[in-house]
Amino acid sequence: NMGTITIPVVVNVLYRTSSENISQSQIQSQIDALNKDFNAANNDFNQVPAIFSGVKANVGVTFVLDAVKRKQTSKSSWGTRDAMKKTKRGGINPTSPNTKLNIWVCTIGGGILGYAQFPGGSSSTDGVVIDSRYFGTTGTATAPFNKGRTATHEVGHWMNLRHIWGDTNCGNDFVIDTPTHNTANYGCPSYPHYSTCSGNPVEMTMNYMDYTDDACMYMFSEGQKNRMLAVFAPGGPRASFN
Ligand code: ARG
Ligand code: ZN
Ligand code: CA
Repeated sequence: NMGTITIPVVVNVLYRTSSENISQSQIQSQIDALNKDFNAANNDFNQVPAIFSGVKANVGVTFVLDAVKRKQTSKSSWGTRDAMKKTKRGGINPTSPNTKLNIWVCTIGGGILGYAQFPGGSSSTDGVVIDSRYFGTTGTATAPFNKGRTATHEVGHWMNLRHIWGDTNCGNDFVIDTPTHNTANYGCPSYPHYSTCSGNPVEMTMNYMDYTDDACMYMFSEGQKNRMLAVFAPGGPRASFN
């Protein structure tokens, strides 16, 4: 079944203003972007530098929009402590989190574009949260984060990927074919960007698990693919999605 995983997606929209109540077409644009990025069908996949052509991956996961839930609230920002996932805190409880990916779309605040729960956590808070201004590719989606890559990055975490720099200087992301990075990269780094970590590798700044602008991230690696698909394998923490 690996390589043919299909993930039903429930999008939970929490809005105060009408612009936060994003359109169906903006929601679908995000599903479309996820399908492109996870199937090597993104139109910038061919920009992957030749030195990484042997490891650039077609992950082979399909996302299907299952339901959209909308709720008007009086909150202007939701933070990062999961209130949006709880009906009793004014949010929306997840729908069937063991078989569907729940995405909450709301204003997070604090300059946060999105955040995710790793596999193995409580099902009551499982899923990813994306700020409405960085969700999808149309409507209120705002440059330089208007290519849907915040969700690609957060779904990467939801499938067990770490940041490519390992969250510390020259840290470990537990993926063999991604180079060791000094730290997060931002904006649109010029190529090649050399690490000062052991061996001075060229950093894979165009990887979805870095922090570059949406236009400057366009690949997962084979090692990342293997780590993600392992989550859905028998005995894995998301085996219930099969
Ligand atoms: N959790 C990260 C943040 O909020 C997401 C970064 C996504 N990067 C992007 N280019 N869309 O900063
Ligand atoms: Zn992240
Ligand atoms: Ca690595």
